[in-house]
Amino acid sequence: MAQLWGGRFTKETDKLVYNFNASISFDQKFYEQDIRGSIAHVTMLAKQGILTDGEKEEIIAGLEGIRRDVENGTLEITDKYEDIHSFVEANLIDRIGNAGKKLHTGRSRNDQVALDMKLYTRDEITQLDKLVKDLLEVLLTTMKAHTETYMPGFTHLQKAQPITLAHHMGAYFEMFKRDRQRLQDIYRRMNTCPLGSGALAGTTYPLDREYTASLLGFDGPTLNSIDGVSDRDYLIELLSAMSTIMMHLSRFSEEVIIWNSNEYQFVDIDDAYSTGSSIMPQKKNPDIAELVRGKTGRVYGAQMSLLTTMKGIPLAYNKDMQEDKELVFDAMDTTKGCLALFTGMLRTMKYNEENMAASAKNGFTNATDAADYLVNHGVPFRDAHGIVGQLVLHCIEKNIALDDMSLEEYKAISPVFEQDIYDAISMKTCVDTRKTIGAPSKEAMDQVIAIHEKYLQEC
Ligand code: ARG
Repeated sequence: MAQLWGGRFTKETDKLVYNFNASISFDQKFYEQDIRGSIAHVTMLAKQGILTDGEKEEIIAGLEGIRRDVENGTLEITDKYEDIHSFVEANLIDRIGNAGKKLHTGRSRNDQVALDMKLYTRDEITQLDKLVKDLLEVLLTTMKAHTETYMPGFTHLQKAQPITLAHHMGAYFEMFKRDRQRLQDIYRRMNTCPLGSGALAGTTYPLDREYTASLLGFDGPTLNSIDGVSDRDYLIELLSAMSTIMMHLSRFSEEVIIWNSNEYQFVDIDDAYSTGSSIMPQKKNPDIAELVRGKTGRVYGAQMSLLTTMKGIPLAYNKDMQEDKELVFDAMDTTKGCLALFTGMLRTMKYNEENMAASAKNGFTNATDAADYLVNHGVPFRDAHGIVGQLVLHCIEKNIALDDMSLEEYKAISPVFEQDIYDAISMKTCVDTRKTIGAPSKEAMDQVIAIHEKYLQEC
């Protein structure tokens, strides 16, 4: 047991208490951020004359050595230390002796851990943002290739009106674009440096907090030292943004599962992204999509858990806050993993264009357009609705599509129909006549695709 305190204690910590309190098993995840923060801290201490340049150089060389040795596997992070901060400081003292004991001057673990968590979060947001962008790239490629791939659009999971695959994918593009914007907003809002807040009331040393903040790429220091050590809002926001990403991935997964079912056969998930059954030889299961859908619950759980943890904590730091780490780490690793896998699955998925188009045609998705045809020929909409209802009933009885009825059959129900009805209710016409921005026609989609292309080039 190696800990940074003990002077005022007369007894050893109980082993169970030590283990219960320790965080090294998980906070070792940000050893690199801890070292980076310490290097900035001593650089500032030396600039302020609190440490000599010689001490600064010795400490930095020691910290860089620790970083190198952890990375190349010669230095193991073990549970002999209470937390990652103790591990780094103890190792530094082992390496360089007395100068190492000055590292923690003007600092508390409270502002140190607040900094480490912010550095970790910034690094991870950058990676997460890149993964969402990768998914947007795949969506855009699919959109470009499928502006004339017709499929049914659904409401209530009932076939509603014809759309294109590009249009459907475009809906997900909007969702994941907003997800990126949320991540970028969080980054901007959280980008202030808590170091220098001390335990809660700042320090008596003449720290230059602006300087430390700028060394670490922050926009500036936090402006209240109590808040500096006890703010976890940005983690709650991040968990919320990740929950929303997972919610989008989960909806998408659900659609992939439905589309991949034997009944739909709209898509084929690549063998590399499917799994088999131990008993049923014919099976090819969409396990990846199901797992993404399933793991959504974990991320939601983390958000609710942290909100609950924070709700009763008086200012400033309390040990409850240590609970933020495992929740955020797990949610982050889960969300990143799901994004990477989902994108790979989507990139390799095959679309059965004929099945999609046949499904749209056979599901009366052009019934609204048949009614519009009548309206364009002077029939009031409510009457037109009734007439097309009769057409649909006739087709259901004969098990055919509207497109398959003869003109005589049409005329028997309404004399208004002429030969041009077939063109009016073709999938192509149904889609191409929906030209307003945001609608499925190729003309409208091409405009939106150009906007998306520019967006992905610029950010
Ligand atoms: N492991 C602690 C945490 O994650 C670090 C801060 C400890 N500070 C303290 N006063 N015990 O929150």
